[in-house]
Amino acid sequence: MSAEALHFVDEHLSRFRDELYDFLRIPSISAKPEYAQDTRRAAEWLAERLKDAGLHVDIHDTPGHPVVLGRWDEAGPDAPTVLIYGHYDVQPPEPLEEWDSPPFEPTERDGRVYARGTADDKGQLYMHVKALEAWLATEGRLPVNVLLLAEGEEEVGSEHLVPFVAEHAEELACDHVVISDSNMFAEGMPSVLFSLRGLAYFEIHLTGARSDLHSGQFGGTVANPGNALARILASLHDDHGRVAVEGFYDDVADWDEETRDRIRALPFDEDAYRDELEVSTLSGEAGYSSLERLWIRPTCDVNGILCGYTGEGAKTVLPNRAMAKVSFRLVPDQTPERVGELLRAHVERVVPAGVRAEVRTLHGGRPWRADLDGRLVDAATEALEEAFGTAPVLQGEGGSIPIVSDFEEQLDASALLVGFALPGCNLHAPNEWFPLENFETGIGALVRLYGKLGS
Ligand code: BES
Ligand code: MN
Ligand code: MN
Repeated sequence: MSAEALHFVDEHLSRFRDELYDFLRIPSISAKPEYAQDTRRAAEWLAERLKDAGLHVDIHDTPGHPVVLGRWDEAGPDAPTVLIYGHYDVQPPEPLEEWDSPPFEPTERDGRVYARGTADDKGQLYMHVKALEAWLATEGRLPVNVLLLAEGEEEVGSEHLVPFVAEHAEELACDHVVISDSNMFAEGMPSVLFSLRGLAYFEIHLTGARSDLHSGQFGGTVANPGNALARILASLHDDHGRVAVEGFYDDVADWDEETRDRIRALPFDEDAYRDELEVSTLSGEAGYSSLERLWIRPTCDVNGILCGYTGEGAKTVLPNRAMAKVSFRLVPDQTPERVGELLRAHVERVVPAGVRAEVRTLHGGRPWRADLDGRLVDAATEALEEAFGTAPVLQGEGGSIPIVSDFEEQLDASALLVGFALPGCNLHAPNEWFPLENFETGIGALVRLYGKLGS
């Protein structure tokens, strides 16, 4: 343990914050081509801060946004190597009018900093950078060998990171992967993740007649892709909230009773959850609690629909095209590839006559389940308990981080997911925020974590 490093964090906290705010001012929106220069600027900015901290840094160009790779390998061959992963890209901020302060002008209110990317993931990634700086500035060394890999395409599916990791597997060789891109269970309740769901994302395109038609002149004689799309989408679930795509549950592995007990033991108030979301009742797969539905059961959701006339007033049109964006959250041992095959077969089966259907794959990522045995989770448990004054709970997570299972597989290492955001932080939504207290306490926890992994 390094008391000096912890003290350094205290002393330099306001500078750390100011630096983070500079990072947050760069609109690194990976999804929008017009922000490609800004996204690169965020990579370059991060690379400079890693150099300032004392790491060797390369920026690797990819066909998409660059990968930043920092390295410090002087802890010696007996010390473990930790690969820290995070992403410097952010989600688009729209709808802008719903932000109480500008998304790329970090603003403090009530112990929170509001800006796009504070929680997901710039703030959490930067906490690692500052924990490393604290060690290097006070001890002149790190307790572990470190690789810090930050990508700029997580929010668009990590398309180029997957081949990057495969091609650089030797250079990225490590013992542990540590990621802070998730939440604590609740305020004051740190957590370690036991799972992440995977993702399989598609567009369903339907085409009918040669063009839009007058719905009186032709309606009733040719198939309407809008009607057809409604039928297809309605066929994706049964009356018990289960996904009705044939074969969908075949690869779903049973969870052990220990995990289900662990979930049941967490203090989760279903009524408060329902009220906070302003819905009259919760809904989902029959036979499971909300936390189970979120963490250990797969789902299917329509993410968007495009069809026909949606402007003001009435237009009697029989549209000739319709499109829906549909995604599935996956659990072990489902794969996005298999779910794609099943969805295609399902759509072929149910598409009404007279309409052509095409299912396009957008992106996907495999689910992940943690290996909870071993030094990594033990060290995290101790570090979090010392920093937060309470031992972490184990929890699952409904969101996805596509690269995690690739890391484990390609690098033969196990991953630790320890996040410091809170469930209410508005990830991907207007008014994203991060608790400043967790910024401070979390850096302390990370300083300790590295120390423990090195000893
Ligand atoms: N950090 C999130 C994943 C996450 C969300 C973890 C909530 C824990 C709690 C990540 O940046 C993310 O948003 N992932 C996307 C997947 C990606 C392929 C677009 C997601 O889950 O939708
Ligand atoms: Mn993220
Ligand atoms: Mn995200």
